[in-house]
Amino acid sequence: MPTNLEAYWMPFTANRQFKANPRLLAAAKDVHYFTPDDRPILDGTAGLWCVNAGHCRPKIVEAIQKQVAHLDYAPPFQMGHPGAFELAERLVKMMPGGHFDHVFYGNSGSEAVESALKIAIAYHRVRGEGARQRLIGRERGYHGVGFGGISVGGIAPNRKFFGSLMPGVDHLPHTHNLEHNAFTRGQPQWGTHLADELERIVTLHDASTIAAVIVEPVAGSTGVLIPPMGYLERLRTICDKYGILLIFDEVITGFGRLGASFATEYFGVVPDMVTVAKGITNGTVPMGAVFTRKGIYDTFMDAAAENAIELFHGYTYSGHPLACAAAMATLDVYEEEGLFANANHLASYWEECLHSLKGLPHVIDLRNLGLVAAIELESIPGKPGVRGMDCLQRCFDTGLLIRTTGDIIALSPPLMIQKEHIDQMFEMLAGVLKELP
Ligand SMILES: Cc1ncc(COP(=O)(O)O)c(C=O)c1O
Repeated sequence: MPTNLEAYWMPFTANRQFKANPRLLAAAKDVHYFTPDDRPILDGTAGLWCVNAGHCRPKIVEAIQKQVAHLDYAPPFQMGHPGAFELAERLVKMMPGGHFDHVFYGNSGSEAVESALKIAIAYHRVRGEGARQRLIGRERGYHGVGFGGISVGGIAPNRKFFGSLMPGVDHLPHTHNLEHNAFTRGQPQWGTHLADELERIVTLHDASTIAAVIVEPVAGSTGVLIPPMGYLERLRTICDKYGILLIFDEVITGFGRLGASFATEYFGVVPDMVTVAKGITNGTVPMGAVFTRKGIYDTFMDAAAENAIELFHGYTYSGHPLACAAAMATLDVYEEEGLFANANHLASYWEECLHSLKGLPHVIDLRNLGLVAAIELESIPGKPGVRGMDCLQRCFDTGLLIRTTGDIIALSPPLMIQKEHIDQMFEMLAGVLKELP
């Protein structure tokens, strides 16, 4: 146990509150964490939406151990190592429909997003449409913490401390509306028309200035917002109409979270780029990636001289050998254990259990899709987030890890979860909610 917690400046954390009453996770196995005194904590959040295959899975652990002893690092600029190519080929094959043919690596969701935004702007430039520089995000969107990501992102506290951000960014409205959609199971009917706001934005700025639209197919970090029926389809249609690239940020929805490989498969909507991270390595080794649709890579190749660098972008750790080994083993586990199918199979049970919380104190909305759920609690007047944090602490004390954004509880368990764990999870949660002041 650490004797002094002071030196670590913790991210996205109330540091003083945490250090006064630390919540430490010291070990993990399958669907549980263990505190330093060995108390099991049921993992209701797959770590931070990333440990989709469950914790400390032997195949993944062994693959990383073997790799670090064999090839620890290889430079990714003007050099390569076999694993990065093997993984890229496997990843593009995983994408349904054969629409995507290249993968660009970073080390996090944030880096995947920065890479995708830069590729979008550069893509238009190499095609001779260099005026297309604007990026369109969405209110309440989360796209990591780079300057590009917070500029297209729509979560106010993530933006307001950091100056003027990127110029030339606009935002679609979010689709959250409790008056119309409270307690919807799956995709809401109301809200499809909000995609048409893209037409208004195009009229305002002119299509010739817009490079890309980026959205999370299911907004996660803001507290789980499920897209209305037909909404993503409509965004696709409008982007096609005006030659705007559509980017799906699948850092959360990728790798089985909805019971399909990716949200693009689940919704049957094909964007031009897909950003991923988290579940790609089961959270074990940092990795992010951008999938590009057929034609994007070729456009860069065609525009540059044969011996020229086509894209002046990349990271020291792009396609790191450990991350590639971890990803390969992770994909094996997903496949061998049919984990995406398990998520799909459990989705309706999950939904039933979630909606059994209706009527408990403070619960003003319940929403779900695949193995994702949100429980929105009424805020204490004048004290947003206090009830949510109280709930998180009480759940932790009871033996359950939840995630909260303000007063919204988000759940996203490992995909290896079984019905008995789901029962335990909602029993613990119901117990806490009944006591919550
Ligand atoms: C949709 C989305 N994009 C990007 C990110 C940023 O990922 P990272 O924290 O790995 O930089 C996240 C993280 O939660 C995310 O949910």
